[in-house]
Amino acid sequence: MKKIIVTATAIVAMSAIALTGCSSERGGGSGSGSTKDEAKGFAADATIGVALPDKTSENWVLAGQLFTDGLTEAGFKPDVQYAPASNTVAEQQNQIQAMVTGGAKVIIIGAKDGKQLSTQVEAAREAGAYVIAYDRLIENTKAVDYYVAFDNFKVGELQGQALLDGLAARAGHEAPYNVELFSGSPDDANSAVFFNGAMKVLQPKIDDGTLKVVSGQTDIAQTATDGWKAENAQRRMDSILTASYTSATIDGVLSPNDTLARAIITSVQQAGKPVPVVTGQDSEVESVKSIMEGVQYSTINKDTTLLVQQAIKMVGELQKGDKVDVNDTDQYDNGEKVVPAYLLPPVIVTKENAADAYKNVPSLEKIVTSYE
Ligand code: BGC
Repeated sequence: MKKIIVTATAIVAMSAIALTGCSSERGGGSGSGSTKDEAKGFAADATIGVALPDKTSENWVLAGQLFTDGLTEAGFKPDVQYAPASNTVAEQQNQIQAMVTGGAKVIIIGAKDGKQLSTQVEAAREAGAYVIAYDRLIENTKAVDYYVAFDNFKVGELQGQALLDGLAARAGHEAPYNVELFSGSPDDANSAVFFNGAMKVLQPKIDDGTLKVVSGQTDIAQTATDGWKAENAQRRMDSILTASYTSATIDGVLSPNDTLARAIITSVQQAGKPVPVVTGQDSEVESVKSIMEGVQYSTINKDTTLLVQQAIKMVGELQKGDKVDVNDTDQYDNGEKVVPAYLLPPVIVTKENAADAYKNVPSLEKIVTSYE
């Protein structure tokens, strides 16, 4: 998924279709001709399906527990499923289909591959259920109702800026700086959004010679990390170091998340080289410790508790038949419609601001204070 610039007229037209054109009877309400905004709601103890991908980062592990607890507390019956690490796409498709058959009124989906779920989400809509894309957009179908996520493009911009700031602070010399670029899994719509956000900041610096990508690999296809797997990032870093850094020093690496950041750092350490400035995302425990120890440079705080709360709030609004609160109706064009979204603000975290950034996340705040 790219951040697609559409004309104002197209946005208005597409949003109008999104708001009025796709559903006439959902959520189990009676009567005819109700649109989404006039939905009749559904039973307050309805089953809510939550289909999460494989556990490629801590945020997914945490989300499952928070959904189970939060939906139960709100009076719903949660059906939370993870797709296993192998055969993930097919398993997730089966899980969603089973939620539809089981009568879930809302299905919240953290997609493994957002391009391969149209059959299942269309079946959900046919059955009268709402579909909320969680964290990752579901593409190429009109049947996704809402999207709830952190502002992914902003995440990328923050990562790009952190790389520049880290280089100025830590490289120990003036520009030019030698850097390498990593992006996420090509089957995750977020990967291109993160990368495009980062490149908005970094490309001008590559063009003016401040940054030198020594491997020459600047295209997203060259920088991709299949499955968001640490071993794939480590392998790619190993070969880049062998091919391009026998004599050159690597000053910085754009990493799209913490799991990959730690793999990249391991690769550089195993090659016996000084650790460069490495960015990240997710505020994973091991990365927060690494940041406090002065190794990894930055991460992003995308508080999973807040994101799950926002998704559950949407479920509550749908249950009551209220208007669903969204704050973005133009950024997330999934190829078939602009999906109305609620975007939360991500926060950049370095050693300098960690105590403040985690003041509302007790488990991480405790780690940070233990280093003070
Ligand atoms: C999420 C990131 C996560 C990555 C790998 C992305 O879709 O937005 O937070 O690091 O998936 O799990």
